[in-house]
Amino acid sequence: MTEDSVNPGGGGSRIEHPALPAAAAAIGRMLVLGGGYTGRRLAAALEAAGVPVLLTHRRPVPSGDARGWLPFDPDQGALPGEADLAGVSHVLVTIPPDGGGRDPVLGSLEALLHRLAPAWVGYLSTTGVYGDTGGAWVDETSPTRPLLVRSQARLACEQAWRRSGLPVQLLRLPAIYGPGRNPMLSLRSGTARLIHKPGQVFSRVHVDDIVGAVLHCIALPAEARPDTLILADTFPCPSSEILGLAAHLLGCRLPEVQRYEDVAAAMGPMARSFWSENRRASSRRLRDDLGYRLLYPTYREGLASCSGDFF
Ligand SMILES: NC(=O)c1ccc[n+]([C@@H]2O[C@H](COP(=O)([O-])OP(=O)(O)OC[C@H]3O[C@@H](n4cnc5c(N)ncnc54)[C@H](OP(=O)(O)O)[C@@H]3O)[C@@H](O)[C@H]2O)c1
Repeated sequence: MTEDSVNPGGGGSRIEHPALPAAAAAIGRMLVLGGGYTGRRLAAALEAAGVPVLLTHRRPVPSGDARGWLPFDPDQGALPGEADLAGVSHVLVTIPPDGGGRDPVLGSLEALLHRLAPAWVGYLSTTGVYGDTGGAWVDETSPTRPLLVRSQARLACEQAWRRSGLPVQLLRLPAIYGPGRNPMLSLRSGTARLIHKPGQVFSRVHVDDIVGAVLHCIALPAEARPDTLILADTFPCPSSEILGLAAHLLGCRLPEVQRYEDVAAAMGPMARSFWSENRRASSRRLRDDLGYRLLYPTYREGLASCSGDFF
């Protein structure tokens, strides 16, 4: 099942973000809290446009990386000071709730963020806050009924960000994939599993569409930014379907198909929790209302764009 008004795809290795010039002009200094997969990708796009970016880390920064890294590890008391964050105008939070379900950023930096008075704060959340819909579509108006403990913590963190009074946009994400994080890697490493659960689908979003949508939101006038936005592609589908294309692109065999009911009991709790919920995440508000054109409307363009890493 797909959503209509699908935009044509755009593969290729050079990513053109149409909103980058306008976003770059609006940003004085970007603070990315959590220099992980998505945070680094956004930082790279902005740095290429000459925007100063600060990225936070807990682990040691790779040697030779000249970016503006700042240590941020509240559990260890590593916090940036006001002078470190001078000039920050926009903030993206990619850090999930901590082990106790609390938001590590609000718990340690909320007062400082208020003093910085940023024009925009993006908070990366998850479509897990909608819980299980038995495969039905959800959008930003759907009720939140998180079933998993980690999704309940996420919803509580969303609400805490909302209460903070900062100019927060909640950006809800399904599974993130892209270069360095996709099923071609698990096929190559021999860890891929071809699991069949009747009726089960997963939604996903390419990391460069998260970056593109963030830039698009920053470039919009503040009054045009919805307070909650789903970032997803148009084509939720079974994981076996995307694994099939991954095997085709690599020219390799698929693993043996396994029935979910035969393997569920032996799965780890995290894997089982992913399979316990079934929903389709709609990005119509992003595409139709805000006019964002997905770079990768389905996994087909998205996965093909990653296959260059393998040859
Ligand atoms: N991955 C998915 O498919 C998916 C789906 C839906 C939503 N999301 C959410 O979207 C956001 C971005 O995802 P991502 O895959 O880009 O994340 P990621 O690669 O795991 O990066 C998260 C960053 O946050 C840092 N961090 C985590 N906990 C922290 C803490 N307690 N204190 C300080 N720093 C902390 C991590 O540091 P370390 O590197 O030191 O751990 C890392 O730099 C996350 O909130 C994630 O939960 C992800």
